Amino acid sequence: MMGMSVDVKSLIREGVERTDRALERLLPPVAQVPASIHGAMRHSVFAGGKRLRPILAMEAARTIRTAHGASGFPPGIEDLGAAIEMLHTYSLIHDDLPALDNDDLRRGKPTCHVAFGEAIAILAGDALQTLAYQTLAAMPCPADRAVKIVGLIADATGTVEGMIGGQVLDLEGEHTKPTAEMVQAIHRAKTGALIRVSIVAGGVYAGADAEDQKRLTEFGSKAGLAFQIVDDILDLTQDSEHLGKTAGKDVASDKATWPAVFGMEASRRDANRLIAEAFAALEPCGDAAAGLKALARYLVERTN
Ligand code: IPE
Ligand code: IPE
Ligand code: MG
Ligand code: MG
Ligand code: MG
Repeated sequence: MMGMSVDVKSLIREGVERTDRALERLLPPVAQVPASIHGAMRHSVFAGGKRLRPILAMEAARTIRTAHGASGFPPGIEDLGAAIEMLHTYSLIHDDLPALDNDDLRRGKPTCHVAFGEAIAILAGDALQTLAYQTLAAMPCPADRAVKIVGLIADATGTVEGMIGGQVLDLEGEHTKPTAEMVQAIHRAKTGALIRVSIVAGGVYAGADAEDQKRLTEFGSKAGLAFQIVDDILDLTQDSEHLGKTAGKDVASDKATWPAVFGMEASRRDANRLIAEAFAALEPCGDAAAGLKALARYLVERTN
């Protein structure tokens, strides 16, 4: 069993490697016809993302297994992580399009539409979404778990309090005077939902019962919201080179952000408070949750 002191750096490094191997296996090779779209998909997927969502999913699975008296990762869990990373990357490709945030730098590289043109970038985003569900449908876990996971992920990325709905609110919130309720709704939906479902789906993959799922949902909602608050803070405090994406973009686009509504100091305080609340939700899991907690702490301490 894992002790309370977790080497989060190694946990992340190993998680990145595991995720990247799965993505390498699951994405069509660049030479596969039509080559332009496969090149575009690989360009964005392998541009150097942090892989936080797959790492959270895998760690949640390990937590549930450990809490239930087994140990290690359930076989095939990296395919769930890879599918979630495909969905996340699709959301980034579309987020960067001229019609949305109009960004030309992502993960330290030119954005997909800058490198491949808008039409192929739109289709590469679509294709990553399709490939994600193809991957989920083929996961080597009991069929009832796979079906449950597909439903949870579709909900979390959809229009009702999910990622796409959040992106709509984010766009429509530009150039308005944002309220606390509004920025909470945006952040919970556009980013919080996918982080939350990464954690819950990882648990379900490993056989989480209803109580486990409730705890993981609570933990994931808090950590997911904290993650986006920190994304807003970093946009204001880091430079583009360090972030690998255009810094200062939220002010330039007059976005509804946490610091815009609550100020910088309260934003930092809120992110830390949310992580403390997230930890409390996992109290009944004891030591088994040490890795997940270390990752949640990293979500708010990261600098990119
Ligand atoms: C950035 O997410 C986009 C948001 C949802 C705020 P990440 O910070 O996880 O980006 P990558 O995957 O490491 O590039
Ligand atoms: C992006 O939010 C959320 C999704 C991609 C769903 P942001 O617009 O804040 O992300 P960055 O800052 O461009 O990475
Ligand atoms: Mg955006
Ligand atoms: Mg953006
Ligand atoms: Mg941002």
